[in-house]
Amino acid sequence: MNCIQRSLVTTLAAGAAVLAFAPAAFAVDADAAKALARQNNCLKCHAVDKDKDGPAYHKVAEKYKGKPDAEAKLIHHITSGEKAKFPDGHEEEHKIVKTSPPKDEAQIKNLVQWILSQ
Ligand code: HEC
Repeated sequence: MNCIQRSLVTTLAAGAAVLAFAPAAFAVDADAAKALARQNNCLKCHAVDKDKDGPAYHKVAEKYKGKPDAEAKLIHHITSGEKAKFPDGHEEEHKIVKTSPPKDEAQIKNLVQWILSQ
């Protein structure tokens, strides 16, 4: 591959990645989202309507309502192991979501969109 072809391929790949995360009309598969949350023990620390160790998903949805970067922020939150503050004041790395196959963007996006729709 010559240099121009290579940069074209890179540009196309980057474009595809952006498209994959575009917020345009996206139908949430609630059952798949809940199943993934259950498999990952998210529901040990979160519920839809009440706070546990982590905030209720309904509250998270309210907090991010109308924010264009909501999806990107939450994807980062559940994939990066960033610090999470617990109600007792201690901090630990937030759980990183596991999918099968690993790091499946569509499944992660679906879970985040489900949380944002609560
Ligand atoms: C061991 C407990 C625990 C588990 C397990 C857990 N979380 Fe959390 N989560 C927290 C805590 C605590 C916070 C609050 C973080 C903060 O405000 O610093 C949080 C915050 C969040 C937020 C809000 C982030 C924000 O920016 O407001 C989302 C969304 C979230 N978790 C999703 C998930 C998902 C999805 C899973 C499963 C893959 C999960 N959590 C598993 C404890 C947990």
